Amino acid sequence: MRRGSIVQLALFAAVAGALGVLVATRLHWLPEPATREAGRIHFVFWFVTGICIFIFAIVAAVLGYAVWKFRRAPDDDSDGPPIHGHTGLEITWTAIPFLLVTSMAIVSAIVLAKDDAAGANPLRVDVVAQQFKWSFYYGCKPIPKGAADCSKAKESDILMLPVNRSVVLHMTSRDVIHSFWVPQFSQKQDVVPGIHPTLHITPDRIGTYPVICTELCGLGHGLMRSQAKVLSAAAFAKWAKSGPAAAAPGLTNGASGLAVFKGSACSSCHTLAAAGSHGTIGPDLDKLQAEATRAGKPLAAFIHESIVSPNAYIEPRYPRSVMPQNFAHLLTKTQISSLVQFLVASAKKGGK
Ligand code: CUA
Repeated sequence: MRRGSIVQLALFAAVAGALGVLVATRLHWLPEPATREAGRIHFVFWFVTGICIFIFAIVAAVLGYAVWKFRRAPDDDSDGPPIHGHTGLEITWTAIPFLLVTSMAIVSAIVLAKDDAAGANPLRVDVVAQQFKWSFYYGCKPIPKGAADCSKAKESDILMLPVNRSVVLHMTSRDVIHSFWVPQFSQKQDVVPGIHPTLHITPDRIGTYPVICTELCGLGHGLMRSQAKVLSAAAFAKWAKSGPAAAAPGLTNGASGLAVFKGSACSSCHTLAAAGSHGTIGPDLDKLQAEATRAGKPLAAFIHESIVSPNAYIEPRYPRSVMPQNFAHLLTKTQISSLVQFLVASAKKGGK
C-alpha cells in the first residue's frame, strides 16, 4: 500500500471518528448519574461507546475510501480482479475484535460485582408496588422466603434516601408485575409477585428524581410514579425520626378507613374529596350515592361489593376488570369494613 493511500485512509477515519465523538458527546443521551452504581454503569457505557467509535471510524474509512477511490468509470463494464484471502488481515480482524469484546466482558463483570456489593450494614428499604402506587417502608424485619414484617415500619409515599450510604431495596408486588426505575440510578428491577428481588444503590448526589413503573401493569400504569429524594445524612436522620410509624400488620397501613384508602392506592384511580384525591381512571367516589342508586343496591352493600367483587356492577363508560380484583385478599375484614364505613360516611355528607 502506498503512503499516500494510508494518509487518505487516516483522514477518512479521523473525519468518521470525529463525527462519532460529536454524536456521542453533544447529544444528552443519559441523565446525570445519582448513585455510585450508576457512575460505574456510565463508565461501562462510555468504555463500550469508545470502542464502537473506534470500530466505526475504521469501517467507515475503508468503506468511504473504497467508494471514492475505486468507483467505476461510466463506460466500464468489466469485472473487477479476483481477490484471494489475506491471512494476515484475517487474523488481525479476528484478534482485535476478540480482545475488545473480552475487555468489555471483563469490565462489565467487575462493575456488576462491585454494584452488587452492599457492604456490611446497608440501610434496608422495602419497596411495595401495587396497581398503581409505590410505597416505601423503613425498618421492616425480614421473615422467611424474602418477605418482610413491616408492622412497626415507617411508611412513605416518597423514596427518602441518605446520601453516601449503601441502601438495599427489598421489593414486593401485591398484584401484578411492575418494574422499578429511577433513570438517574441507571438500574431497573422487575417486581414480580411471589418473589422478592433486591436492588443495591449508594446515592451520591443530593436531589429529587422520578420513580417510574416501566412494566405495563394496567390502565393506571402511566400514573404509577413517585419520587426519590436523596437527602444529606443529617436531614435523612431528622426525617426518619419524624412522624408516626405505620401500625397495622403486614404491608398495610393503619386501620382507619382513610388510612386503608390511601394505603391501598385508591387515590391513584378515584376522586374523593374526603381523601383529597383526584384520580379519573375509576368512577368518582364523591358520587357514590347516585352510583348505588343506578346499581339498584343499598349504599353500604354496594360499596362493599364494589371493593371485593368489582365486576359485579360496572359504572357506565368505565371498562370492566380495571379495578384490581384482589382486595378481598389484600385487606383484612376489619380494614374492608372500616373502608366501607369511611366511604359511606363521606357519601352521606354529600361528597364534595
Ligand atoms: Cu406498575 Cu406499570
